[in-house]
Amino acid sequence: MTTLQTAPATLPTPLGGTLVRRIWRPGQDFDPAELAGLPRLELPAQNVADLEMLATGAYSPLTGFVNEADYLSIVEHLRLADGTPWSLPITLAVSREQAERLGGRVVLTHAGQDVGTLDIEEKYLARKAWEAREVYRTEDEAHPGVAALYAAGEVYLAGPVTLFEVPRGEFPRFHRTPAEVREVIEARGWRSTVAFQTRNPIHRAHEYLQKVALELVDGLLLHPLVGRTKSDDVPADTRMEAYEVLLRGYYPQERTLLSVYPAAMRYAGPREAIVHALSRRNYGATHFIVGRDHAGVGSYYGTYDAQEIFSAYTAEELGIRILKFEHTFYCQSCAQMVSPRTCPHDASHHLILSGTKVREKLRAGEHLPPEFTRPEVAEVLRRAYSRS
Ligand code: ADX
Repeated sequence: MTTLQTAPATLPTPLGGTLVRRIWRPGQDFDPAELAGLPRLELPAQNVADLEMLATGAYSPLTGFVNEADYLSIVEHLRLADGTPWSLPITLAVSREQAERLGGRVVLTHAGQDVGTLDIEEKYLARKAWEAREVYRTEDEAHPGVAALYAAGEVYLAGPVTLFEVPRGEFPRFHRTPAEVREVIEARGWRSTVAFQTRNPIHRAHEYLQKVALELVDGLLLHPLVGRTKSDDVPADTRMEAYEVLLRGYYPQERTLLSVYPAAMRYAGPREAIVHALSRRNYGATHFIVGRDHAGVGSYYGTYDAQEIFSAYTAEELGIRILKFEHTFYCQSCAQMVSPRTCPHDASHHLILSGTKVREKLRAGEHLPPEFTRPEVAEVLRRAYSRS
């Protein structure tokens, strides 16, 4: 039996001091009837995800799509213009024609539905090649983040946003805003909470990192990203099913919270690790796990670049502790999960499967070894792949 906490929970202050909330409130914000005659702007999925992240405070202190001063400062200095740490430009790109047509308050739509508003305060030109080099460390369009950057319009619209309603999406039971996650942490009395970002089906290495962390902190916020991912990543519904199965069988319920992270993946590696961490601080986490090649794709980033980049900030500025883990895998001779820090055996004793290899095996209908994935999770994946 784990002991229940009696002391009050400890929650970090959101980045910038207060949790941003830009969700429309009847009577306090504008009257929806005023919006009837305003111009509409249809948003692609990544921008809708950003709208939600901004409006719910997940991206505090940002209150909208960033202006040029912040854009330049984020890309060049990994900070907002006022010095606050921030590493990814959260921008809204449109074509030149759209930019000319739009001004003042604009109604944002997705799939034809009104989802929010943007009060345009500034329009400026994207510096795409520079942004790609600095943010993604490559101009190669084979990189999914770079491809998305180049595919979008050339003008960035900046200004505060309002979201009409939090889209609870595919996973309503697990869809919580930062304020709602904070409430759960508070109710459970966790004095420390480690957040885990993931976009892949849970495997033994993930579980190991989480449980090593759980030896040190009170609670685990298992926070899978469910926004857009690249087409060959395992879809979110399969991943969620796998997390649920695993949590039921192998995790202490009162120390674990499964909740979705609605952002889209940019695959910006080190830069994305910073936003992943700062945003989890906004959700109420005190600790954040960064392992090998966090948020990486292909071979654009060094294995531990996403850990090293945090040295750009002081611990006080970050306000969330980064738990850095080396590459972990199963060792047949140790008969447990290990890393180069804990295992004396050479590679011939180790079981290492890349994401690509895992997908290949699944497509071929092969079983994943239990040392790599627990059988319950392997079964969820096998079923999902046999349907596709
Ligand atoms: S990510 O794009 O969300 O980073 P993934 O879901 O694979 O991808 O990883 C989630 C977290 O676990 C990241 O912090 C990543 O660095 C870490 N991680 C994944 N696999 C391993 C491993 N075998 N050893 C150490 N860390 C790992």
